[in-house]
Amino acid sequence: MKAPASGQEHLKILLRRGAIQRRVREMARQISRDFHGQRVHLIGVLKGASIFLSDLIRHMRVEVSLDFMAVSSYGKGSQSSGQVRLTKDLDTSIEGLNVILVEDILDTGLTLNYLVRVLQQRKPKTLRIAALLDKPERRIKEVKADYVGFQIPNEFVVGYGLDYAERYRNLRDVCILSLPPE
Ligand code: IMP
Repeated sequence: MKAPASGQEHLKILLRRGAIQRRVREMARQISRDFHGQRVHLIGVLKGASIFLSDLIRHMRVEVSLDFMAVSSYGKGSQSSGQVRLTKDLDTSIEGLNVILVEDILDTGLTLNYLVRVLQQRKPKTLRIAALLDKPERRIKEVKADYVGFQIPNEFVVGYGLDYAERYRNLRDVCILSLPPE
């Protein structure tokens, strides 16, 4: 069952849990084919990508290691400040590794554009991007994602790791969140 929305907030399912699970499995298989016989170093962008990453990794059939980064993004509301700041750096070097940056959603592209620039300076062997969701209409900075789960319309979504003011990350479906007028 879906968690109830609080106050006048309203949730409408956009992507059902079954469809998400199937697509994540396909993405993991694609990555495993592309990196057959090699090791892959997954970097999850906290906190939103944590659920996607933990499902993705369990379907991967290559040697995998993990690290995490955190950036400041939306803060408490649904509007981006446009500023990206690293709040947690990696634990180990990525030099010479096949790195896949795992993100929940590609929206304006500001976050991933910034992270790609930071990571490229650290000389990985390869650097790819896996994003569960992509809102192409919102793009400000160009970013090429190598693995995309779903392209979605320009709506604010929550669930499967995505939050609104730290809430709704635990929903198993991805839902469109409508907020009461301010
Ligand atoms: P970007 O830098 O605009 O591409 O945004 C990336 C980050 O913004 C994501 O990692 C999310 O944390 C957040 N974000 C963007 N769109 C949504 C949304 O629809 N729901 C929840 N968070 C979002």
